[in-house]
Amino acid sequence: MEIFVVPTASATGSVAAGILAAVIRSKPDAVLGLATGGSPLPIYRALADHTVDMSAVRGFALDEYVGLPAGHPESYAEVVRREVTERLHLDPAKVTVPDGSAADPERAAADYDAAIAAAGGIDVQILGIGHNGHLAFNEPGSALDSRTRVEVLTERTREANARYFSAPSDVPARCITQGLGTIMEARHLLLVVNGADKAGILAAALNGPVTAECPASILQRHPHVTVVADEAAASQLAPGSGQVAVRVAGAAAVA
Ligand code: GLP
Repeated sequence: MEIFVVPTASATGSVAAGILAAVIRSKPDAVLGLATGGSPLPIYRALADHTVDMSAVRGFALDEYVGLPAGHPESYAEVVRREVTERLHLDPAKVTVPDGSAADPERAAADYDAAIAAAGGIDVQILGIGHNGHLAFNEPGSALDSRTRVEVLTERTREANARYFSAPSDVPARCITQGLGTIMEARHLLLVVNGADKAGILAAALNGPVTAECPASILQRHPHVTVVADEAAASQLAPGSGQVAVRVAGAAAVA
């Protein structure tokens, strides 16, 4: 596991974008796992500044709410369309998001898992981390080998995501999320974390026990994980075995 510590949140986006640009130059039809939330946005904005042909790149969103009307501005389908597909000039036909408005969301979830496999799996899965250690919408207690499925969101997660909606009650109660087992099949995991409010949970995920109570701790079992964190988020990290901390652009060393 390599941990890049950078001075600011925008720098995490630049470093992660540089990694993705290199992957795409080496594999123009790379399959990217597309995360939403605030942490990945600087990645997409920085990647747009790279002169790399994205037309053959394929993308699979990490998760989606269940029950939002098609076209809802805060559906992840719309967030991915705005922030990724259009910004990076991806081919919309090559970008797939779980069908949160399906009549049978469980079936849609199973079909999504199969679609990822049919595409040959994900080359680089971009990830954020929730305050309670969730990855995608795998909340605490999620089976470490879980597959893409319908999940119920915790109130803490709904409150954290309410900032994107006009009222907390508008945040859906359910979602379709790639499972932890699905995520772990990606060939490379790229976790981006910003802010002091994530320092404790990042330390628990990377240095604590591997447990379903902190779903992100599963990262310790993946063979190729890159963590890009700003100094505030990395402030409680103490690299464990197999973890290499890299200072970037004058960033403070990991303690
Ligand atoms: C949501 C998303 C996750 C994301 C998390 C943290 O729950 N489903 O994929 O990691 O929010 O978002 P942020 O990066 O804004 O803290």
